[in-house]
Amino acid sequence: MAIIPVAGVGTRLRPHTYTTPKVLLHVAGKPILAHILDDLPALGIREVVLIVGYMGDLVREYMDRHYRELRVHYVEQPERLGLGHAVSLAEPHAGDRPILIILGDTIFEADLRKVLSGSDHSIGVKEVEDPRRFGIVELDGTGKVVRLVEKPPHPTSNLAIAGVYYFTHGRPLFDALRDLTRRDIRTRGEFQLTDAMQMLVESGATLRTFPIDGWYDCGKTETLLETNRVLLDKRGCGAEVAGSVVRAPVVIADTAVIESCILGPHVSVAAGARLRNAVVRDSIINENAVIEDILLEGSVVGEQATVRGGFKRVSVGDSSEVRYP
Ligand code: G1P
Repeated sequence: MAIIPVAGVGTRLRPHTYTTPKVLLHVAGKPILAHILDDLPALGIREVVLIVGYMGDLVREYMDRHYRELRVHYVEQPERLGLGHAVSLAEPHAGDRPILIILGDTIFEADLRKVLSGSDHSIGVKEVEDPRRFGIVELDGTGKVVRLVEKPPHPTSNLAIAGVYYFTHGRPLFDALRDLTRRDIRTRGEFQLTDAMQMLVESGATLRTFPIDGWYDCGKTETLLETNRVLLDKRGCGAEVAGSVVRAPVVIADTAVIESCILGPHVSVAAGARLRNAVVRDSIINENAVIEDILLEGSVVGEQATVRGGFKRVSVGDSSEVRYP
């Protein structure tokens, strides 16, 4: 079973997250959450606990519309007391079963099949240049985790915790989380999953790591667009639209209406969007947005939003120069 905390507010993605929970923002043709969920059935995972909070109703609606084949349990995290607290709320559903935890904003590539068949708890890690904004792990010579620290100001390792965790049994983790809460152990004011795992290590449990190959950040608009570019380069394809020119890679939903446009490269157009007389590249156009008479690049246009430009009128004499901007 998978546990996916999706309660976050996504402040760095405002204004988009004022009306859409972060995990439902589109990137490379589908919501962030869909990138995570679509990989699960191939791993034999058909049951998911979603820890919801901020705009949880929209997450439920989305799941009801698109993921009827998954067995989904919703758990409300009423207060944002940290990731450790969020995960602990899944205990009634997960119990002692094997659990895969994937943070709701983590699009990644890793050989999870191998991880899930392993006999040890295992944490997805990736080397980063600046580990201070992540949890980090220290390993011994045999690859066993000996220490974990959440967002250390002076990191002693550059192996960052990427947001994907596998526990062969839920019980030890839930026990550690309960202990953490009972003893009121907080880091940066919150109950941290990293601290619970440190307690597991201290109690003698074996934790190992596995490599995260691709790790695609969706934390702010610029990185969302970068992830859109990278994923479209990997998985996107071309499209033929009569009367328009399309430069691959792009993803265009079937129900989008494109008229007299030049689209791409790196454009995601969601269902119901209408684009007319526009040149659009390196952009994400969300559901039912309307784009007309405009050149757009590096742009994210929200659901139902309208962006209309216009043609310029000039009377330019010989040897003049006109530039926009
Ligand atoms: C969380 C975890 C942290 C991990 C990070 C990965 O932090 O607490 O250990 O490195 O996710 O994105 P957050 O980004 O929620 O602050």
